[in-house]
Amino acid sequence: MQFDNFNTDMFLRDYWQKRPLLIKNPWRSWRNPLSPDELGGLACEDHVESRLITQSSDDWNAEHGPLPEARFGELGKTPWTLLVQAVDHHVPDVAALIEPFRFIPNWRIDDVMVSYASDGGGVGPHFDHYDVFLVQGLGKRRWQIGKMCDDQTALRSHEDLLLLADFEVVDEWILEPGDMLYIPPGIAHNGVAIGEDCMTYSIGFRSPSRKELIGNWCDVMLPELTDDDRYSDPDLTAQQNPGEISAAAVERLHAMLTEKFADRAAFARWFGTYSSTPRYPETDWRPEKFIEIEQMQDLLSAKHPLLRNPASRFSFIREGNDKLLLFVDGECFPCVDEAIKLAEMLCAEDQCIVDPERSRSDDVVALVTELYNRGSLAFDWG
Ligand code: SIN
Ligand code: CO
Repeated sequence: MQFDNFNTDMFLRDYWQKRPLLIKNPWRSWRNPLSPDELGGLACEDHVESRLITQSSDDWNAEHGPLPEARFGELGKTPWTLLVQAVDHHVPDVAALIEPFRFIPNWRIDDVMVSYASDGGGVGPHFDHYDVFLVQGLGKRRWQIGKMCDDQTALRSHEDLLLLADFEVVDEWILEPGDMLYIPPGIAHNGVAIGEDCMTYSIGFRSPSRKELIGNWCDVMLPELTDDDRYSDPDLTAQQNPGEISAAAVERLHAMLTEKFADRAAFARWFGTYSSTPRYPETDWRPEKFIEIEQMQDLLSAKHPLLRNPASRFSFIREGNDKLLLFVDGECFPCVDEAIKLAEMLCAEDQCIVDPERSRSDDVVALVTELYNRGSLAFDWG
């Protein structure tokens, strides 16, 4: 999938994280990558996360998958929506939808959720904490957008869905196949299917909250701290009022925290492993038999194309000019020399052929072997 008519620099400058944008069919040639039946089939599988939302008068009801196949036959005339998470992990043609969005870094990309709605179906007015591109795959949907929301915005009491108590429409559009709507975090939105067979692909992004960062980093930092690493004051002098916690004491106590948080290298390494940890590790590509280094050398010399597991997350952080930390699926692989070029290529392309010259390097072959045996990479025999 490729864009024919979409200016990424202009989009980033004027819209990304700023305001919504309707993009009328920007694709070279739009083709719906998945049929409604295939989506229904995925919702019946137990390793796939799905939800079925049914509407009655003014209320929404959510059921969690896997759904029994017979459930679809029971759905009557009332509007309903089926939502399936991370479809890109299971369907290569849906994974291909992410490629034109690679102008946004890998670590910010989440996955592709696909929805199918019957006439009048939708999930109700809500807001998300993440940016999203809503691509209309099949049929038509009316999208309405509202105001900016935050955690103070009033919600309806509903155990499963975060629906807005009030939704004031600011703008609306009808999307047809190939059309795309970008919605920044916090903007209220509501999509309602017009007619049957409405499919929407949500290319979703991630942005960690401060709460998540501090909480998760502390979880890994705490076990490394010891009880003898303590406050000490060998320079204590008598103070006028014993009740005062002196400025010098506050300074020293505060430094005990900030020194830890200021360790940028430790933070970068942690963040790389944290952000590359897969959310859905069920797409298991580990080979039945581990491959040996010599065998890998032969396969690479024969220019067999390598594929990234679509559920795997690949990113890197540079450490100076001659070292790079590659992060794949929650692990850190320090790279030097030729392995740096390999790591850069693996992060940039979801499939690649290793240059036979490069595959003479022991570091390169060792890294590919490790990633292959872990199931993060596989060969494309097709
Ligand atoms: C949908 O596809 O129906 C919902 C997507 C969203 O609003 O985030
Ligand atoms: Co939404």
